[in-house]
Amino acid sequence: MNDCCSFLDDSNGKELDKVFTDAIVSKDFERYRKHGPRKSSRILISLLEEHRSTQDVSLCDIGSGIGSIAQAFLNYDAITVDVVESSSAYITASQEEASHQGNRSRIAYHHGDYVHLAHELGPRDLMCLDRVICCYPNMDSLVGLSAVNTKSLLAIVIPRDSIFHRALMKSLYLSFKIWGIFRTSPVVPRFYVHRITDIEDTIKWCGLDRLASKTTFFWRIAVYQRSQP
Ligand SMILES: C[S@@+](CC[C@H](N)C(=O)[O-])C[C@H]1O[C@@H](n2cnc3c(N)ncnc32)[C@H](O)[C@@H]1O
Repeated sequence: MNDCCSFLDDSNGKELDKVFTDAIVSKDFERYRKHGPRKSSRILISLLEEHRSTQDVSLCDIGSGIGSIAQAFLNYDAITVDVVESSSAYITASQEEASHQGNRSRIAYHHGDYVHLAHELGPRDLMCLDRVICCYPNMDSLVGLSAVNTKSLLAIVIPRDSIFHRALMKSLYLSFKIWGIFRTSPVVPRFYVHRITDIEDTIKWCGLDRLASKTTFFWRIAVYQRSQP
């Protein structure tokens, strides 16, 4: 395979399937059942609710995890939801939660790497990447394809881009590595600290402008709106 097509290699999706194991997912599932969506997800949901128009009726949640964004938007009867997930453990947990909430038939599930599925899935009004970009090595492909497929609003949650937050991410990765050695785990979660300026340049290049942003201690939550066709 030549370099220009390297993003079509499925190794990233396969690696993510191994990283987000049953053990990691069941902990997250337990946390979600007890506390609901994380703070950064709650902010993302409220920003989308604030800025979306009533014509925005399709949502695609990429790297949806347990599916907290999908579940929140199913409160609106008119909205159709697609979730895309590389991890089979997360897909199973997300389906279990949707059945528990009586919403299973209202969500279309797509198992795999969004970079491979983007063309087949096509555009949606609202697109979400909630804590996903930092798990994926090829930012340009993931963010670019998501932005191209955004008809109205794209919402992202990424780690804040400062020396302190970069150092924190590196130490977290190191501690996961050490934990992996002791647990003889084959693959440990890997973080990619993509620069915010690179992410925003890609989004802008695809015809979207920043509409709103907020921060928590660790995360930056931002919403972009299509300004050019
Ligand atoms: C840290 S988890 C976040 C899950 C959820 N969005 C949340 O905030 O709780 C990142 C998820 O993104 C998924 N993911 C990362 N890159 C992806 C891609 N290119 N296509 C589909 N899923 C992806 C991973 O499998 C993982 O489940």
